[in-house]
Amino acid sequence: ELKENTIIIVLGASGDLAKKKTFPALFGLYRQGFLPRDVKIVGYARTKMDKAEFDKRATSYLKNPNDDPEITQAIQQFKDLSTYISGSYEDSEAFANLNAHLEEIESHYKGPEANRLFYFALPPSVFVPVAKNLKEQCYVTKGGGVNRVIVEKPFGKDLDSARELLSSLKQYWTEDETFRIDHYLGKEMVKNLLVLRFANVAMGAAWDKNHISNVQITFKEPFGTEGRGGYFDEFGMIRDVLQNHLLQVLSILTMERPVSFSAEDIRDEKVKVLRSIPPIAREDTLLGQYVSANGKPGYLDDDTVPRNSVCPTFAATTLWIHNPRWEGVPFILKAGKALNEAKVEVRIQFKDVTQGIFKDIARNELVIRIQPSEAVYLKLNAKTPGLYTRAMPTEMDLTYKRRFTEAKIPEAYEALILDALKGDHSNFVRHDELDVAWKIFTPILHWIDGKSGARPRPVPYPYGSRGPKELDPFIQKYGFKRANDSYVWPVTNLA
Ligand code: BG6
Repeated sequence: ELKENTIIIVLGASGDLAKKKTFPALFGLYRQGFLPRDVKIVGYARTKMDKAEFDKRATSYLKNPNDDPEITQAIQQFKDLSTYISGSYEDSEAFANLNAHLEEIESHYKGPEANRLFYFALPPSVFVPVAKNLKEQCYVTKGGGVNRVIVEKPFGKDLDSARELLSSLKQYWTEDETFRIDHYLGKEMVKNLLVLRFANVAMGAAWDKNHISNVQITFKEPFGTEGRGGYFDEFGMIRDVLQNHLLQVLSILTMERPVSFSAEDIRDEKVKVLRSIPPIAREDTLLGQYVSANGKPGYLDDDTVPRNSVCPTFAATTLWIHNPRWEGVPFILKAGKALNEAKVEVRIQFKDVTQGIFKDIARNELVIRIQPSEAVYLKLNAKTPGLYTRAMPTEMDLTYKRRFTEAKIPEAYEALILDALKGDHSNFVRHDELDVAWKIFTPILHWIDGKSGARPRPVPYPYGSRGPKELDPFIQKYGFKRANDSYVWPVTNLA
């Protein structure tokens, strides 16, 4: 399915995203032999620099800690297949120049076909002019080849601006040619959700309101905005993580079984469940902002952040799904910067077991740890081993590092770029998915932005803490029962 005679063009090649994610992913694929044979990579950006400077930047995040000669050689080969062109994003002549460079490369390809994959590692302000210029100057039709574009958030700031951006881009690139990245869809454990749910009768049977009390999808980062405050302040935690990454996880976790693994069958089901979610209510929202603690700066201490900003760096929101499977089950999405640890997980808490023979017994919880250290574990009660009968909480643990010792888990961007090269849309965001995602979040975003009266003040939480002190009561309000450390698991006798 991989098309030969392919050029991958990285626009915004001198920026952060390209340096930290795109080039390392391309290199990872190259090294493992997953790029098309004879692939060429072309960087494009405004910065004027020579090839040596470009190589230095493009390879600055490639890892070779032990100076492995094999990797050193691969890096050299990677440099050899890359070139760089500088030019503006607005000027059509600059793109004609880029096109001439691409045609020169293609003139050395065997056979008539030429394929181009354009990767937008760009700020959203130039999405539309670049889309236009590429279509008008760099669209290849030779030998029935294909043109594709990969774009990444932010896709607008609310429902209206997202619709406007999408329709502007649609003038130039069809849905079929467009690959909208949400890199969470490339993560191994997010892809695993489909298999865990639909390839296991035991899981599938308990996957509804009759068995599940509440669900949390949690994103925690141990660092603040550090220098990225200018970008962040315009968007805030909800747009940065909840509206895209966590909502994507939610939709796969809750959708009905798709008819097939085809992209449209999967995305039809995702859209359907998202359409059953009404806009989030203010009272189902908790906002926080980190303040300085333990020598670490607060959000407002970041020079790139406007003074007195009320931008949330922490947000918890509860969503409700109005369909027969999920009516009444709270889905809590929560994300924060500058917290006590790095962790992304889904925690499904089941209902209390029938009382009577048991009292105060721990609830089952199924935890899917997306990162770090991928794992699936089920907290369950078992008989304490020995000559007495009492239940104790324990777990069934599938930790990937232990169970799959040889496996290499791909980086999200590697998996997604490979999908785009193959033309598989399953793990990319369809236009109507984006639309419904914005419908769910736009009212609270407008409230937070002060479009409907006074702006809500986020509650403070110390840098490096678990989050605002209001968080535990917030979660408990939705029925979550915390098995806290001071709690001694009760000895339960069987009658
Ligand atoms: C990005 C956000 O989309 O995702 C960042 O803009 C965040 O703020 C990042 O740090 C998290 O991605 P990952 O793969 O490190 O969990």
